[in-house]
Amino acid sequence: MSSSVKFAIIGCGRISSRHIDALGKTPNASLVALCDMNAERLAEREAPESVERYTNYHTMLQSRPDIDVVSVLTPSGMHVEHALDVVQTYKRNVAIEKPLAMTPAQGKKLGDEAARNGVQVFPIYQNRFNRAVQFAKDQLSGDGELGPVRVGTVRLRWCRPQRYYDLSPWRGTFSMDGGALTNQGIHYVDLLRYLCGDIKRVNSKMATLGADIEVEDTVVATIEFESGALGTLEVLTSARPDDFEASVSCVAEKGLIQIGGVATNTLEIFSPDNSVCAEHSEEFPTVYGFGHDVVMAGIADAVLGKGAPPTSLEDGLKTISLLHAIYRSDEVGDWVDLADNPTSERLGRPDDSLANLYRTPPEKN
Ligand SMILES: NC(=O)c1ccc[n+]([C@@H]2O[C@H](COP(=O)([O-])OP(=O)(O)OC[C@H]3O[C@@H](n4cnc5c(N)ncnc54)[C@H](O)[C@@H]3O)[C@@H](O)[C@H]2O)c1
Repeated sequence: MSSSVKFAIIGCGRISSRHIDALGKTPNASLVALCDMNAERLAEREAPESVERYTNYHTMLQSRPDIDVVSVLTPSGMHVEHALDVVQTYKRNVAIEKPLAMTPAQGKKLGDEAARNGVQVFPIYQNRFNRAVQFAKDQLSGDGELGPVRVGTVRLRWCRPQRYYDLSPWRGTFSMDGGALTNQGIHYVDLLRYLCGDIKRVNSKMATLGADIEVEDTVVATIEFESGALGTLEVLTSARPDDFEASVSCVAEKGLIQIGGVATNTLEIFSPDNSVCAEHSEEFPTVYGFGHDVVMAGIADAVLGKGAPPTSLEDGLKTISLLHAIYRSDEVGDWVDLADNPTSERLGRPDDSLANLYRTPPEKN
């Protein structure tokens, strides 16, 4: 392999421009090909002239054996199916947008197949790498100023009206998307785990209050961490008329830390010394932030054997398991223990009529 890792992208929708931009800034990576089954969308997506364009990912991977990593940016419910093709048939590494998989079992299968074929799976949780989040991680760790967490809190109060869910058939469905918790809340649920530690059990209640969709747009939950700390979670896209808040906060033994902003980019409170907040904050133009820059560089290094992946598959999958525990608790109306490997009966349920919209068979010669 050359010293520059070659990336291709499947899915040229809303998040793809952030990937293209991040790869353009990564010294040891280059984007060589784009694929979207929608030819118009493929043509519209801006990318350097040298980048080849395909409407069929089989054709792309057959034509370009030099592609090292395929980034899967397709509808959430198709991530594992598309990634399995990449891993099993073409034996390439895959980077996968959130959610990595719709169910823990799907994610495990992908991990097993990747290992069997000698390639890696890279989950993308870009907000972990924001300046404020890294500062919080350090301050909550052994040498940090805050000490152990006592209460961890997530509050996401966003507005996603009906027209958002109407953008594409996959949105707002249990098989392809999940609701406020899986689509928007996942970054915050992941950060709660990342900052406060693994979770022992959860008790949740969900509702659909602001749009005509089958999934939840409103979730509240109580959390008990393995450490004995407690937590609360309020995740909703039913706020109107605007996005109001998106924050993660931790009350720890020696103080409080709170991160907010459009995408956990602003250190809002650091009670030992609030004067450091500005230097640990960043300006983000959109909710996608700049974390993909760090993630792409980390993936390239991991492929070159120069470091651990930005987020391991096992770690990424724990967040999917936590999502399932929160859905399952709502389904059974009781506390749910993560040690029992709870699986929601709704999130990730198969729906071939939707999946068929996004399936790509190999082209006939
Ligand atoms: N990390 C983040 O902050 C973040 C932000 C937005 C979206 N996402 C995730 O990225 C994924 C895509 O989201 P989006 O908003 O860009 O969606 P989108 O609907 O705008 O784009 C999806 C694209 O995938 C294409 N596609 C579907 N099946 C295909 C196939 N078989 N071959 C080629 N192309 C195919 C579609 O034509 C479409 O252009 C979702 O899973 C979403 O959760 C992550």
